[in-house]
Amino acid sequence: MRGKFITFEGCDGSGKSTQLRLLSNYLTEQKIPHIFTREPGGGKISEAIREILLSGKNMEMTDECEALLYAASRVQHLSDRVEPALAEGKLVICDRYVDSSLAYQAYARGLGDAFVRQINDFALKNYLPDVTIFIDLSPEEAFRRKHGADQNDRLELAGADFHDRVYAGYKEVAKAEPNRVVCVDGKQTPNAIFEEVLRILKDRNCL
Ligand code: TYD
Repeated sequence: MRGKFITFEGCDGSGKSTQLRLLSNYLTEQKIPHIFTREPGGGKISEAIREILLSGKNMEMTDECEALLYAASRVQHLSDRVEPALAEGKLVICDRYVDSSLAYQAYARGLGDAFVRQINDFALKNYLPDVTIFIDLSPEEAFRRKHGADQNDRLELAGADFHDRVYAGYKEVAKAEPNRVVCVDGKQTPNAIFEEVLRILKDRNCL
């Protein structure tokens, strides 16, 4: 039987990495065949594209080029890692996927939903996740947790607006596809979030 495809989404600092670590331990303990992978990256060519995308040397990259490179890296990653594992019946857990492009490129960069959906057509048509877990934590809350409640003023630093738009974008995506995208309250303790993640995955017959 074909494996299930699960993606995790959230703003920077949302606690996504902690949940992925907890899930990794759980799946290993339970001996559930799985792979963990990430976007952008997860293969030779996609990791090379990741370097181009995340390098501080490429500040002049246009928003359109950025969106196309994320989409290109995605197509290669699906073929290199996701498809083979699904075909072997493994659970595929991916750290970020097409919803990141919708939140970051379509909403936060302002490229619009139609353009980003169009260039991600291959992923959206052929590899829509069985379930997407969105760790719902606002950038303000994430910042407060990291730096303490008294330092909120630093949120005014350049970049805060962008992250607010990413968060708003995620909320739109979740609203548009409530059956696929499940919101988990990121203000809970890591263990409480993980309990909820497990419950969702069991409900969706992913575990
Ligand atoms: P990474 O260091 O992996 O961040 P995180 O640990 O938060 O996942 O960097 C990935 C960055 O790429 C992150 O800031 C979100 C961004 N991104 C997009 O803008 N669009 C996309 O389609 C994807 C997959 C990621």
